[in-house]
Amino acid sequence: MAIEEKIKELIELRAKARLGGGQDKIDSQHKKGKLTARERIELLLDEGSFEEFDMFVTHRCTDFGMDKQKILSDGVVTGYGTIDGRLIYVFAQDFTVFGGSLSEMYARKICKVMDQAMLVGAPIIGLNDSGGARIQEGVQSLAGYAEIFQRNINASGVIPQLSAIFGPCAGGAVYSPALTDYIIMSDSSSYMFVTGPKVAKTVTGEDITTEGLGGASVHATKSGVAHFVSANEEEGILLLRKLISYMPQNNLEEPPVTECLDPIDRADDALNHIIPDNPNKPYNVLDVIHSLVDYSEFLEVHQQYARNIVVGFAKFNGQPVGIVANQPSFLAGVLDIDASRKAGRFVRFCDAFNIPIVTLVDVPGFLPGSAQEFGGIIIHGAKLMYAYGEATVPKITITLRKSYGGAHDVMGSKQLRADFNYAWPSAEIAVMGAKGAIEVLQSRDIQKIEGADAQAAFIAEREEEYRTKFANPYEAARYGFIDDVIEPRNTRFRIIRSLQALATKKDLNPPKKHGNIPL
Ligand code: HXC
Repeated sequence: MAIEEKIKELIELRAKARLGGGQDKIDSQHKKGKLTARERIELLLDEGSFEEFDMFVTHRCTDFGMDKQKILSDGVVTGYGTIDGRLIYVFAQDFTVFGGSLSEMYARKICKVMDQAMLVGAPIIGLNDSGGARIQEGVQSLAGYAEIFQRNINASGVIPQLSAIFGPCAGGAVYSPALTDYIIMSDSSSYMFVTGPKVAKTVTGEDITTEGLGGASVHATKSGVAHFVSANEEEGILLLRKLISYMPQNNLEEPPVTECLDPIDRADDALNHIIPDNPNKPYNVLDVIHSLVDYSEFLEVHQQYARNIVVGFAKFNGQPVGIVANQPSFLAGVLDIDASRKAGRFVRFCDAFNIPIVTLVDVPGFLPGSAQEFGGIIIHGAKLMYAYGEATVPKITITLRKSYGGAHDVMGSKQLRADFNYAWPSAEIAVMGAKGAIEVLQSRDIQKIEGADAQAAFIAEREEEYRTKFANPYEAARYGFIDDVIEPRNTRFRIIRSLQALATKKDLNPPKKHGNIPL
């Protein structure tokens, strides 16, 4: 065969591979409002940057007539490219080929890009749309999944791993995304569950729809499995690009600092008045965050889950940071099981990838009651405590208002190795709120007083006494637990200066195989 013919053959083979399961299957994918694997990669990566691997791979299964059904690429598109010029490895499951189901060779393709990403220290992004293990292959595909899981585990905390779910993701297949750092689900076209509605019906008798059991909204609000929900695939892909802009390439690098034209000394007078005079009145901590960060840009993670705590990424003078903030406008910003898990995982991600943590505190304490105690708030609260105490990245804590009890210690306190602890003049730092404190301390005296009015007057007086003593930042500042009390309007400047001062921070944990975080 002359070289011209060989090149023609190559071009034809490539064209064939690009068609995946064929035009009909592509049309059917489009009809469902979904993109194909290759279209998704095109959107995700910088134009023309995609280099594909393993286009000519086919499966090796001979059962069920599979030897006569070989499709180039075998249902997953893999390779590398760039996002904003930075190297990224990627795999996209191709639903047009055997429903995107995973075979032995398909798993090998994914493992190859994962290994390569680890070798060079670059993030990996997986775009999921698959019917799970390829039924015709049986145990081979189970082994293939486990090969991927092991790589996810090895890569955890070494390179950022992001997952988007753009179609089915069921059975054991859910565990690869679950082992990655962030999961984005596209609304109405994706679902995730370990066992589907049919099995649920057989085993438990429960009648539930696919969407109701594992749709994006369920995972964003109830289970917390999804960190983000996108209205559609295009929005999900843009979100992936944005998310990666806050992360370093790997755990040995710093996150990318960008030019910032937002003045570092931009003061905001509104912050001086944002805390209501009445300590029981809420305000929206997102207003504080938007006021402080560069260009008011805040990428909120887990927006709809455990809304009593806010976590997400922003920049200060171009430096990426992770922000953790109690949200007084939802459940008064109390710490509960879900909030502790949500924030604990976020703090650990930031620490793993050298992203400084800015904490804004306004927490009345842990949520009381049997539901929380039976659910193990002790263990879950300890997770957040552990995450803060273990983190060696720069940690800056600003107490805006309440900081009570165990929750005070947890939320980036000085003793959990926060570097700079500032407080607004509105801060109240104490063992517990005045009401609770007086009920405990003065219960005998209260009982001795006759008449409800007289009791109420006595309680109000003692509460006021307690509040005057502790409901301020100066008692904590007197011991050096608060480094300075700052005017709210200047907070942005103080944070940026702190980050600059901490840029060369080096802190280490004692040598160990790994800690035993209370899981
Ligand atoms: C082989 C599969 C497949 C699979 C789908 N297909 N899933 N082929 N193995 N797992 C094929 C279909 O036969 C069909 O082929 C094509 O893909 C498209 O599927 P449809 O059913 O037509 O699409 P749709 O109606 O959109 O339904 C999608 C689906 C459904 C909900 C995912 O296909 C389905 O339920 N699939 C089976 C899911 C499953 O049980 N997987 C195994 C889970 S166990 P044709 O040729 O007709 O177009 C598992 C264990 C992993 O994953 C454990 C890891 C530790």
